[in-house]
Amino acid sequence: MGNSHPSGRSFRSKLAKKKSLQKLINSESLKQQPIYDPSKFHLPKNDKDIDRMHEQHFLFKHIWECNFSSPIERILHQPAIVLDVGCGPGTWLLEMSTTYPQSQFYGIDIAHAFPKEIKPGNLEFIQSDITNGIKFDDDYFDFVRMSLLATFLQEDKWVGVLRELIRVLKPGGYIEIIEHELQYNIGPCFSTLITPLLNFIRSTGANIQIVQKIDSLLTTSSSSNHHVSPSSRNVFSTLHSTNTLTNTSSHQINQNLSNTLSKLTNTHSDTRTVLIGSAHGGQTGKVFEELLKSYFENTVVDLLPWYMEISQEKYLELWKSCHKEFKNRESSTKLHKFWGMKIGQ
Ligand SMILES: C[S@@+](CC[C@H](N)C(=O)[O-])C[C@H]1O[C@@H](n2cnc3c(N)ncnc32)[C@H](O)[C@@H]1O
Repeated sequence: MGNSHPSGRSFRSKLAKKKSLQKLINSESLKQQPIYDPSKFHLPKNDKDIDRMHEQHFLFKHIWECNFSSPIERILHQPAIVLDVGCGPGTWLLEMSTTYPQSQFYGIDIAHAFPKEIKPGNLEFIQSDITNGIKFDDDYFDFVRMSLLATFLQEDKWVGVLRELIRVLKPGGYIEIIEHELQYNIGPCFSTLITPLLNFIRSTGANIQIVQKIDSLLTTSSSSNHHVSPSSRNVFSTLHSTNTLTNTSSHQINQNLSNTLSKLTNTHSDTRTVLIGSAHGGQTGKVFEELLKSYFENTVVDLLPWYMEISQEKYLELWKSCHKEFKNRESSTKLHKFWGMKIGQ
């Protein structure tokens, strides 16, 4: 009966129109979606991205008040050999090789973002994927560092990478790792961008909380002499369970990490809180917000709307609201650093 009712027919035809309109809107908004290739996520995107990494280096140096925390100052004045893994445009290396001309510096990165010719003579760059191993002899370097690789390295690759970093390190040499915890103490607006970003990163197999895990393992490792610097607060007490891996493989990774890290002693960790925006964080907060702006408006401006299935306009509107949130609400993130010495001397 209802089917033949005139108002039923008009309802169905309205519904059909609405559905086809919705289909059209969906296909239009899909057409508007920028095409994004997620396999390129680990590569620096363009010159703006490289500028952001340069600026980030100077901000981090300001926050830590140093270019390294390991006790290596003395050996850098003798001829030391130093490696920076995932060195990006090589800002840290350019500064270090100029400050310590007696020492030899090497940078490895999968992308060719580093300078080819205009660089000090004691600095060399190598384009290579570190998950395929490090092409240097055992016990070669006095100092090895790796900064901000957690978003790119798959969790199950960490053990192999750390093993390689420790293999090429001389006994008595130091390893230093720096990572960033983006989601610490942020408001609902910034969370709407950070949550999908972290979900995407997890979907690639990376675990950005790996450094908390490493630090926690160092704390509990019997062969290490763990120390938390007095100026820092230890936030590594809990292991987060947001892995993309199953418990068994995660357990295996913990076990392998623990074995690898047992080759280190005299380990330290240092955590710094960074307030976002000038309203709460002064000049440091202002520069940090500028870095975030460049990250969200350039580095991931194709990725995030694509992953969130929203238009770029909507995404940029969301990002604009985050600026307001940084003014009205104290928001902060954390930087983590740990370092340790290879046993054997
Ligand atoms: C966030 S940037 C950090 C750059 C620099 N270490 C810093 O702290 O400013 C990450 C760098 O790691 C590099 N990278 C990512 N995956 C890599 C891999 N498997 N092997 C070597 N480098 C890699 C990227 O090309 C990028 O330059």
